[in-house]
Amino acid sequence: MKIDVATLFPEAFDGLKVGIVGKALAKGLFELDLHNIRDYSTDKHRRCDDYPFGGGAGMLMTPQPLHDCINAVDPERRARRIYLSPKGQTLTQSKVVELSRQEALFFVCGAYEGVDQRVIDLDIDEELSIGDYVLTGGELAAMVAINAISRYIPGVLGSEQSTEEESFSDGLLEYPQYTRPAVFNGVAVPDVLLSGNHAEVDKWRRAQQLELTRKLRPDLLKGEDK
Ligand code: ADE
Repeated sequence: MKIDVATLFPEAFDGLKVGIVGKALAKGLFELDLHNIRDYSTDKHRRCDDYPFGGGAGMLMTPQPLHDCINAVDPERRARRIYLSPKGQTLTQSKVVELSRQEALFFVCGAYEGVDQRVIDLDIDEELSIGDYVLTGGELAAMVAINAISRYIPGVLGSEQSTEEESFSDGLLEYPQYTRPAVFNGVAVPDVLLSGNHAEVDKWRRAQQLELTRKLRPDLLKGEDK
């Protein structure tokens, strides 16, 4: 998979160079190309912001640098172009899986109070939000999406890790897990996990998933994530 990102703050993406995602990038399991929107500004001071017509608080990103950046990077519109915004569809695990199946993704990060609407209308396929709160820019949201998507790219997770048995993989929260010691601080691991009876372990885990989901995230049982 190829992922392009248009941003005023490419250095923010250093956060993706660590851990599992960093290793995957170093191994070339997917490609991440960062594009500084400011490099495309034709303004003599390389400005990328201006006051909103009609007044209002803050500044907006001007359309020219962003439009030129997007279309220089992806002239044939090969990538799915995604603008990170609180107005977008919320990122869920099923959305992550859907995006992970694309050949090319292009994340466009806004800053200030947002971007000129004409860029969204002309150049963007969809808007994506990571939750009902407002960030200062799209960078963290793009990193969240890239991190979650990368886990579905073949080879990124080792064989000991898996996207199959985890929270949301079947629409439920994950069951609790325990490792050694069998008693810690006076608290014992549930007996069934030490029983060696795999059918009983599976049954217990499924019951835990249902109970936890009912208690903590009843909305998931109603299929509101889908
Ligand atoms: N940009 C600002 N807030 C955002 C959010 N919640 N999700 C995605 N992009 C954003």
